[in-house]
Amino acid sequence: MKALCWQGPDRVAVERVPDPRIVNAQDVIVRVRQSMTCGSDLHLISGRFPDMQPGDVLGHEFVGEVVEVGSEVRRHAVGDRVVVCSVVACGRCWYCRQGLPSCCDNGNTNPEIAELAWSAVPAGCFGHSHALGGFAGSHAEYVRVPYADHGAFRVPDELSDDRAVFASDAAPAGWLGAELGDVRPGDVVAIWGCGAVGQLAARAAVLRGADRVICVDLVEDRLALAEREIGVETLHCARVDAGAELRERTGGRGADVCVEAVGMAPPRAGTRGGRLRHGADEPGGVREAVHACRKGGTVVVLGVFAGYVDGFPLGAVLHKGLTVRGARQHGQRHIPEVLDRMRRDELRPEYLATHRFSLDDGPRGYDLFRDRTEGCVRVVFTPDGR
Ligand SMILES: NC(=O)c1ccc[n+]([C@@H]2O[C@H](COP(=O)([O-])OP(=O)(O)OC[C@H]3O[C@@H](n4cnc5c(N)ncnc54)[C@H](O)[C@@H]3O)[C@@H](O)[C@H]2O)c1
Ligand SMILES: [Zn+2]
Ligand SMILES: [Zn+2]
Repeated sequence: MKALCWQGPDRVAVERVPDPRIVNAQDVIVRVRQSMTCGSDLHLISGRFPDMQPGDVLGHEFVGEVVEVGSEVRRHAVGDRVVVCSVVACGRCWYCRQGLPSCCDNGNTNPEIAELAWSAVPAGCFGHSHALGGFAGSHAEYVRVPYADHGAFRVPDELSDDRAVFASDAAPAGWLGAELGDVRPGDVVAIWGCGAVGQLAARAAVLRGADRVICVDLVEDRLALAEREIGVETLHCARVDAGAELRERTGGRGADVCVEAVGMAPPRAGTRGGRLRHGADEPGGVREAVHACRKGGTVVVLGVFAGYVDGFPLGAVLHKGLTVRGARQHGQRHIPEVLDRMRRDELRPEYLATHRFSLDDGPRGYDLFRDRTEGCVRVVFTPDGR
């Protein structure tokens, strides 16, 4: 089949790869209908997130149709239209039962890499680094979905693919940001990064009753989009000092909850690929979020980092009494509610899918997504070009 593969830092190409097959009785095979880009792919493509291998199939946000079912699969049948959680988790281990599927003990088939990097083994992820299991991704015609009863969700008939594809990852990630921040009615919430994840965190904060939501970015048209579609305030952080401006707008106190949805900065020359290095990750918006948070507030890190960060303001965390939280999304827990909110039109993220390409044009799609030109927020690939 055709698939969009990582070939090395800043190189992706469409290749022929073997069709996936059922490996475990709990697997299903899904024929991909739509597969979407994510900021996490940019970390991988640049070589900033280690342990990619040439030929790895990218993509972890997708909707498709079940075409083959393992003998132990109970909840899915051939022909079902499903959205699949980006996180590969077993649904049965202690962590899954605590509602922490992205911490699953069984979803990652390469424990030795993760143990070295993070001292513990988190769940797997489609189309991602071998540190997260090296599962083949969804920028392809077909994909194998392990633990399908727990990770694949039937899409209600009234939901379009265009909307449902956000339930894989970006919407539950935004949802988690508001949950980890314990956003309450009356709160002021500031969000760094106005990509799909930041905008969906903003929408989640609004739905939880935040009084004011302020999105921070340096891409003008993304800020304008968030103003128009979610009705939030915005702040252009290349023009004003975000921390000072936020204090100014909040009577000197700062935001109650600061959500970081930026992740690792683009790579510096000479730092690409290879293994994790101490102090190698650029903290992007995290430092600003810590400084702009009010005393006793909460900073949530949704942006992805690979390993270690220098210059983290730990003194401010202590003396301001901050709570700092972070996680990969827990879609197995949140996707049912996300789909329900989508069905009720409370979540309508399809406006973020600004561009659509056939899988054959994958490299061009990623150039546009990386450069954030032509108003691009997210690119959707369709294997058959429709
Ligand atoms: N925790 C999770 O489960 C989860 C899920 C999906 C994505 N992510 C991560 O969330 C992050 C955002 O994902 P996305 O798809 O929205 O990515 P994106 O690349 O589309 O958006 C990132 C945005 O951050 C902005 N930005 C860069 N530096 C900034 C700064 N200093 N201050 C404010 N804004 C800045 C960019 O202009 C861009 O608009 C990525 O790191 C991604 O890996 C995490
Ligand atoms: Zn993603
Ligand atoms: Zn588990």
